[in-house]
Amino acid sequence: MRKKVIAGNWKMNKTASEAKAFFDELLSDINVTDKEVVICPTFTSLSAAVEKCSGSHVGIGAQNVHYEKSGAYTGEVTCEMLTELGVKYVIIGHSERRMYFAETNGSVNKKVSAALNAGLTPIMCIGESLAERERGEMERVVGSEITEGLSGIEPTDKLIIAYEPIWAIGTGVTATDEQAQEACAFIRATIRGIWGDTADKVRILYGGSVKPANIKTLMASNDIDGALVGGASLKADFAQLVNYDK
Ligand code: PGA
Repeated sequence: MRKKVIAGNWKMNKTASEAKAFFDELLSDINVTDKEVVICPTFTSLSAAVEKCSGSHVGIGAQNVHYEKSGAYTGEVTCEMLTELGVKYVIIGHSERRMYFAETNGSVNKKVSAALNAGLTPIMCIGESLAERERGEMERVVGSEITEGLSGIEPTDKLIIAYEPIWAIGTGVTATDEQAQEACAFIRATIRGIWGDTADKVRILYGGSVKPANIKTLMASNDIDGALVGGASLKADFAQLVNYDK
């Protein structure tokens, strides 16, 4: 049985004091044990978030990391800098990072590997654009994001994948339950092709305009093991998403 993961990606939102206020208001409502709850604030709020959530069941993640252990990489942060703070997860290869910061399957691969070596749980994001979907290329794009992203990495149930069709991110357009399940089943089959039965233990999340109105049926799909939530994780809505089955 794969434990569901409900993860919030705050993107470039909330100062550290705003992050603290969020946890003060919502921590008791999102502190559940039947699911893994993760919040990914900005780097500047990580410390405050870890402190606020210590003793709770909410884990804290970063939104990016560098793969080198140290060096002349102005503006970047290492895995060790995150683990020392008490950060447990890291989002890698979000489509916004691929789009605006030139991340590639190659850099994603190095980051996933570095994160696993450091004991962080990577949340590796993949997903096709609208044009790619319309050309019938979802499987080709997502397939190569997986095979190149996981190249040379030993099978591990620590990996979390987030399937986020780019056309559904921040647009209000959610993939239908069938589209999301079909893609996540394809993703699991692709992982099985390279990692064998470990594929049954990898959690695959859906992301893209997840909200209280659509989460329940998405989570009922066989191959969907949780959600990566952007906009709705910034508000009180997030507690409703975590408690979608209550
Ligand atoms: P959204 O973002 O929920 O606002 O669509 C999801 C994401 O980018 O992770």
